[in-house]
Amino acid sequence: MNNLDNPTIFLREDYLAPNFAIDQVYLEFSLNPNKTIVKSTLHMRRLGPGSLVLKGEELELISIAVNQEDYRDFEVNSKELTVHHLPEVFDLEINCSNQPNINSSLMGLYVSNDNFFTQCEAEGFRKITYFLDQPDVLTKFTVKLNASKVDYPVLLSNGNLIEEGELNNGWHFAVWEDPFPKPSYLFALVAGKLEVLERQYITNSGSKKLLQIWVEKKDLSRTKHAMESLIHSIEWDEKRFGLELDLERFMIVAVGDFNMGAMENKGLNIFNTKYVLADQHTATDIDFANIESVVGHEYFHNWTGNRVTCRDWFQLSLKEGLTVFRDQEFSADLMGSDSGRTVKRIEDVRLLRQVQFPEDAGPMAHPIRPDSYQEINNFYTVTVYEKGAEVVRMLHTLLGETGFMKGMKLYFARHDGQAVTCDDFLACMADANQFDAKQFQYWYSQAGTPQVSIKEQYNEVAKTYTLQISQTCPPTPNQSVKAPFHIPLKTKLLVPGQASDEFLIELKETEQQVVLKNIQTKPILSINRDFSAPVILNFDQPENELLFLFDQDDNAFNRWEAIQKIASNNILNNIAPSDPLIEGYRKLMLDPTLDPAFKELCFTLPAETYLHEQLETVDPQIVHHAKVHYQNVLGVRLINEWENLYEANLIASPYSPNAVDAGKRALKNFALKMLLDSNLAKFEAIAFEQLKNCDNMTDFLAALTLLVHYESSFAAEALNLFYQRHQGNDLALDKWFAIQASKPPKQSGKIVQDIRKLKLHSDFKMRNPNRVRSVIHTFCMNNPAGFHDASGEGYEFWYDNVLELDGINPQVAARLARALDRWKKFDAPYQAIMHSQLEKLLTNPLSNDVKEVIQKALN
Ligand code: ARG
Ligand code: ZN
Repeated sequence: MNNLDNPTIFLREDYLAPNFAIDQVYLEFSLNPNKTIVKSTLHMRRLGPGSLVLKGEELELISIAVNQEDYRDFEVNSKELTVHHLPEVFDLEINCSNQPNINSSLMGLYVSNDNFFTQCEAEGFRKITYFLDQPDVLTKFTVKLNASKVDYPVLLSNGNLIEEGELNNGWHFAVWEDPFPKPSYLFALVAGKLEVLERQYITNSGSKKLLQIWVEKKDLSRTKHAMESLIHSIEWDEKRFGLELDLERFMIVAVGDFNMGAMENKGLNIFNTKYVLADQHTATDIDFANIESVVGHEYFHNWTGNRVTCRDWFQLSLKEGLTVFRDQEFSADLMGSDSGRTVKRIEDVRLLRQVQFPEDAGPMAHPIRPDSYQEINNFYTVTVYEKGAEVVRMLHTLLGETGFMKGMKLYFARHDGQAVTCDDFLACMADANQFDAKQFQYWYSQAGTPQVSIKEQYNEVAKTYTLQISQTCPPTPNQSVKAPFHIPLKTKLLVPGQASDEFLIELKETEQQVVLKNIQTKPILSINRDFSAPVILNFDQPENELLFLFDQDDNAFNRWEAIQKIASNNILNNIAPSDPLIEGYRKLMLDPTLDPAFKELCFTLPAETYLHEQLETVDPQIVHHAKVHYQNVLGVRLINEWENLYEANLIASPYSPNAVDAGKRALKNFALKMLLDSNLAKFEAIAFEQLKNCDNMTDFLAALTLLVHYESSFAAEALNLFYQRHQGNDLALDKWFAIQASKPPKQSGKIVQDIRKLKLHSDFKMRNPNRVRSVIHTFCMNNPAGFHDASGEGYEFWYDNVLELDGINPQVAARLARALDRWKKFDAPYQAIMHSQLEKLLTNPLSNDVKEVIQKALN
């Protein structure tokens, strides 16, 4: 923690294969929260010359033996243990200890609510014992856990339970053996007071599996949805990818203190409680959907991540991009309809454009396969994950479902049991399809969002329609010039009253012309359908054509895209909605054939962060007020329709989180928002009634959010009602905090002091990442008008909290640090204050994590 140190920069091109193999490891833990002793016996084999360098951090070394003899020929420092003059084959025994109780980084072995958990990806195993802690070292693990029986009745690790029994002094033990060699980042152990929900599962090929979800006793009644999601995931992977569960037992464990969403440890997934626990009274429709998708994601890693893993961490997207693509397809298939698929696609694209596009245009921009990093934890990004998934999706579009599956089949045939690279994956896709991937690989090596510009020309006489398409990609850190990308654009020419076919334009050149013949009248262009490529499209399509697409396009994604484009243009240029646009909205509202979820997405205006990206320089207050004003006009002009929509989408049947009902609730609650927006005094009572009478968290939370954000006179009572009802339920309280932290400033002006007050609440816990995110990250990253207050107090709050958090949990702090990523884009007064806060931060001793983010932002 010293800024005078030059940070180590790791380079992809410096990859070196390990000079030793660890064929087997036997680990024995004596679990004690103050001091846990780890005895590790490694069966090792020399692969190349040199000393053995094992990683180890925050450990106390007790002793080393080679082939059962005490060994002294080594050196140890705060990061590495170097052992010299080792033979060809040997057993290395290492005794060391660590302190789970004081581990607030939540990496390695730590304590949460008196139970033990681990998180090893990416480099947490080195905080447990000295090891070749890199993903290309695959080892068979046998693990013995010793612990007090009253305090830790349940003892879990990866693989199969092969032995358990009693020890002296009230201790007991369990031995677990994982039959599959794995890298250390997939190791896990759990010990504590937990209860289990169990199911049997019979695979396609007839083998019997035990499925378990382990949680604290008070949470057991909220595990059903996660179990159903797990069963759906297993079924889906068998059906769509032909991949079966390979272990006799598959376990999920929930923990309340967790840095990320979840972790795919072999056979023993560890989850943030947020992605396991749900019932209708405490979880929203979105929570139910997220649980399904995260359970799927971690389960799918068993093949894409565990059976075939990454050679090094620069290849992270090999497993993450592919697995996100798989979980997106899983959720889309489970929506059960074409329109459900579109809804899922729109949600994914919204996330990409709101979060990944800004990242790709900012100081942390990196290719999905980065070339360098200072701290790997900073590269678990929307680029590696979501853009990575888009790149896999483009391969799927170019090769088709059959070709893509041929590629997957070859991938497992060639690489099962190996640690490989993104190039290896792409080679399988290419070889299985005679696909030339030479140009496609730029999606892996180049950062930045490509911009595609389109000019169209219709020749009345020759009956030809010509598209002039060009691409550029802005410079990104260390990459000033880019080679052209291979961009698949799903396209269709629409002519009122005529049928036509969709076709694929493969844009490969910087400038490319597409000439279409025998086109009888000027068509309306529908391009990048389904968002077939993750690009920014520059195409000046007149509003009447966009309205036609909104009304008529048979690609529902592009209907949504058309209305979003109109809304963005209008908001950014302060143009009131035209009469034809209002009519378009009205028609959408009244169309009985359309999915309510789809309607809700059409009405939802583009996020402020997405609007920011479309401006040269941003005044966040102006953008905020323009959006608020525009929304208000839509509310007022369609007031009767909103009232009708609210009534029409009330659900009489008992709560179910299924996609259709969830869509109805989303639309109904959107209508309620528009009602309150246009006339708070008249409609706030309806919201308060909904809150008091509903039987589910979705409707309760929607009403509460509106009452609080619109500063209704019912707000205080409603907040209190929520608090009384859910006191003691952490996940529910996170929502209670987040509503208040995301409140845009209204008449009351600045809200920074309210956020500072929230931090003083007795339920605020700076050591719990979920709680911290619900207050601090929500305010700094999800409340643009509140955060970007002209006084700069929002930025001061940011400074204070990055610094405070960094002393507790660098990963969580580094994520918050990124709230000022785009500081250069803001108008001068904002920019100046952000800049000074960034510089001030750098004068403190900082973790590698935060330092990398701040240094890059200032570069
Ligand atoms: N592999 C996990 C997932 O995507 C994420 C773990 C990231 N952990 C971390 N400390 N950066 O499901
Ligand atoms: Zn993942």
